[in-house]
Amino acid sequence: MVKICCIGAGYVGGPTMAVIALKCPAVEVVVVDISVARITAWNSEQLPIYEPGLDDVVKQCRGRNLFFSTDIEKHIARADIIFVSVNTPTKTRGLGAGKAADLTYWENAARMIADVAKADKIVVEKSTVPVKTAEAIEKILIHNSRGVNFQILSNPEFLAEGTAIKDLFNPDRVLIGGRETPEGKKAVQALKQVYANWVPEDRIITTNLWSAELSKLAANAFLAQRISSVNAISALCEATGADVAEVAYAIGKDTRVGPRFLSASVGFGGSCFQKDILNLVYICECHGLPEVANYWKDVIKINDYQKSRFVNRVVSSMFNTVSEKKIAVLGFAFKKDTGDTRETPAIDVCKGLLGDKAKVCIYDPQVTEEQIQRDLALNKFDWDHPVHLQPMSATEVKPVAVTRDAYEATKGAHGVCILTEWDEFKKLDYVRIYESMQKPAFMFDGRNVVDPQKMREIGFIVYSIGKPLDSWLVDRPAVV
Ligand code: NAD
Ligand code: UDX
Repeated sequence: MVKICCIGAGYVGGPTMAVIALKCPAVEVVVVDISVARITAWNSEQLPIYEPGLDDVVKQCRGRNLFFSTDIEKHIARADIIFVSVNTPTKTRGLGAGKAADLTYWENAARMIADVAKADKIVVEKSTVPVKTAEAIEKILIHNSRGVNFQILSNPEFLAEGTAIKDLFNPDRVLIGGRETPEGKKAVQALKQVYANWVPEDRIITTNLWSAELSKLAANAFLAQRISSVNAISALCEATGADVAEVAYAIGKDTRVGPRFLSASVGFGGSCFQKDILNLVYICECHGLPEVANYWKDVIKINDYQKSRFVNRVVSSMFNTVSEKKIAVLGFAFKKDTGDTRETPAIDVCKGLLGDKAKVCIYDPQVTEEQIQRDLALNKFDWDHPVHLQPMSATEVKPVAVTRDAYEATKGAHGVCILTEWDEFKKLDYVRIYESMQKPAFMFDGRNVVDPQKMREIGFIVYSIGKPLDSWLVDRPAVV
């Protein structure tokens, strides 16, 4: 029986390994983590992450050929293939702070592998890492091992949160990079055989190590660039009376462009896009390519602009002040169908509103109050350094109110901001919401979830990203 150990039981390690276990009954999969709380949750009825379809997959294999454990050393020692799926956040201090990837967690994992391995291992980079990381990892492993051979493979993960199980069951492609030596090629084949249990062979791409590592960063940069492109056009739509949904539809009908990832929004979020583009920017700078670095940096600048443009629109529409006004925020997660709030645009929008002294009241179907309060108290880039995080103390000042109900959040509010495209927000009773609010009642839709015309008929003054503006808003141009 092939034995797999995955270091890191997070959003990638957990679902990815659960699907490998489901699809490969002849493989034993153990997921290990330094976080006792996370492993305890993976072994309980309440999994540590919300992902549609995940519970079902875990229930089918846990205890059969899927195990979660904190005994890292034991399972590394037993494994043939070790996936490393630890967090690779943006560095917060030192050389490259604010851009470069922090490989501390990765290096610790590699040193642990070198320490405990007594037989040959295939080590798989599942985390997103800077191109050339495999070379550094190889050095750590080789210089610390005692005669054990290691083959390093790059096997970046392309799943998106909210659709992780669907993406893993039916991936557009699986990418495996390895050394072009006989041993390297043998290791690539061994990993390929695992995926070949359910992924058609023509979707398993094999490349050299550096192409695989760079493809992941480049893929995320391309995807984020599409969103920043359509968001840049959304600002021009608002200025001219064009409708961004119509423009995006017309663009996407061109088969060379395609229809997906062209939804204008309050900005992209999530743990990957900003972090990986910053990483790409840093790598370009290190290679003496400032023009290339600036090109990709602008994708992030447009994203920041889109978030601040939204806040400015809210404040300027409401007589240039939101001070002491209740603003309801519907949705805090960075996208629907996840409870993940890492780099969610809601953080910047809420901080912007709080900066203007608004009384913010938040409802999200999957995000806990503790998570929201902590996100709003954290400094930029601190979110992905979980080992440093402490639970909030009971005496700490809570920056916002959080409710478990959209109607409670909106009751008595002057304005509503929709910041996540949860399906349930399409079905809310907006007449009831309007009646319970202060007048004039404002609706700021950062995800184009509601029909602006219907909202206007109810009585709201409506702002939807990239849509023709109400005369109220035209008369009060946002300071952008
Ligand atoms: P995560 O923070 O959810 O999980 C990482 C886990 O690794 C944590 O539970 C942490 O406790 C654990 N860990 C850290 N150091 C460890 C060590 N030395 N030993 C054992 N466990 C350790 O992160 P994630 O979202 O799963 O992302 C992991 C990697 O995958 C990142 O590089 C990320 O860029 C990449 N990625 C993420 C996504 C996504 O959608 N989240 C998609 C593709 C790729
Ligand atoms: C992304 C990549 O899609 C995935 O391939 C990679 O493995 C990890 O990073 P993820 O961050 O989980 O996945 O979600 P994604 O669906 O890409 O959405 C990212 C952000 O972009 C979200 O905030 C989403 O709301 C936003 N978005 C997405 C838009 O604003 N408009 C769109 O058209 C699409």
